[in-house]
Amino acid sequence: MNILLLGSGGREHALAWKLAQSPLCQTLWAAPGNPGIAEVASCIDLDVTDHAAVLAFCEANVIGLIVIGPEAPLVDGLGDSLRAEGFPVFGPNREPAQLEGSKGFTKDLCERAGIPTAGYERVSTEADAMAALAKFGAPVVIKADGLAAGKGVTVAMTMAEAEEAVREIFSGRFGEAGAEAVIEEFMEGEEASFFALTDGSTIVPFATAQDHKRVGDGDTGPNTGGMGAYSPAPVLTPALEAEVIERIIAPTVRTLENEGMPYSGVLFLGVMLTAEGPKLIEYNCRFGDPECQVMMMRLESDLVELLHACAENRLAAIQPPRFSKETALTVVMAADGYPGTPAKGGAIGGIDKAEALGAKVFHAGTALKDGVLVANGGRVLSVTGRGGSVAEAQAAAYAAVDVIDYPTGFCRRDIGWREVAREKAKDA
Ligand code: AMP
Ligand code: GLY
Repeated sequence: MNILLLGSGGREHALAWKLAQSPLCQTLWAAPGNPGIAEVASCIDLDVTDHAAVLAFCEANVIGLIVIGPEAPLVDGLGDSLRAEGFPVFGPNREPAQLEGSKGFTKDLCERAGIPTAGYERVSTEADAMAALAKFGAPVVIKADGLAAGKGVTVAMTMAEAEEAVREIFSGRFGEAGAEAVIEEFMEGEEASFFALTDGSTIVPFATAQDHKRVGDGDTGPNTGGMGAYSPAPVLTPALEAEVIERIIAPTVRTLENEGMPYSGVLFLGVMLTAEGPKLIEYNCRFGDPECQVMMMRLESDLVELLHACAENRLAAIQPPRFSKETALTVVMAADGYPGTPAKGGAIGGIDKAEALGAKVFHAGTALKDGVLVANGGRVLSVTGRGGSVAEAQAAAYAAVDVIDYPTGFCRRDIGWREVAREKAKDA
């Protein structure tokens, strides 16, 4: 079958790498792709906001499966347009993609379905937001309702910070995304990510992961899209996983199905492991980046078979995904300046050397300029290693990082620290 993959980040390189390994995959197209993806796929330019153009490409190239990597085209309804013409799509339609596209939509759904999450209030004026802040008190969490490229959430430890965040949202900084906001109770606990595939009715647990959102070692500094991740996340024990499925995922999928907007694709949950049990922090309607890289590194099953079955509502009929028992850990190499303005154009070398050590280097923001690989974005590479423990996977990833020659980039040196410390404590 011919497959079209949309996106250009480390997540999409990992997906492309795995899709291309499948005997079911004939021609793999990627739009726009990146130089790493170009090693396994034919990269093309397609404007994903032009649904007619995407449809025309799919018809002309007899595409049998479209895999939509990032959230924006999903929230924009590209899935609906393609499904309407009979194409199997991996990724939800516009309405259920509101799970990521609107914080208020998700909180209201949690309330209707009795899903454990932080208490909240939806507000659409600055005055109502300030009144809600007074009710909750600090610490408190303020979220712009819509997609804000990961920048719409403030965890405020003081009322002054909280009020500043509210003013920022209603001053129009996030445009349409900030026309509404959610004020939320602060939850205390450790965060973890859980991924499940669903075709609208069948739920197939996929994998667990943890990422590191802050830019600096020791989880300090500003938030980023993610500076590294590992999978599995032992903190999500099988018992907790079962609880997450029963109390969060199953009621979500059932409610959306009953309300006529079945969710088809991957559900990516951020959960807070609180003293009262796991609670939903947020949903994303796509794979995580860089969580996808570590999950693909462990996946032993045929990704095309899984995603195609999901797209055709056949998940109940296929074998559940199998994963290596090993841990995979990825370290993001970012351009100097990230998450502010990243340095563009810095030369990158040594990827072959890193891969000769057994690591896999996924490209995120890279470009080829006059035959030289250069940085072309904030997060540039995702260097992924494997091992029998988190400590071993960490050592493998950093050994690979250390042979990469990218002088205008940086990375965190402590990805996986929480779990490495727990492993050490267990061994002691
Ligand atoms: P979100 O985009 O909703 O995942 O929020 C981004 C980050 O803010 C999360 O990964 C958490 O670290 C933090 N966060 C969000 N909501 C809460 C909450 N209610 N309590 C504590 N931390 C939160
Ligand atoms: N790494 C977090 C995300 O993809 O949203």
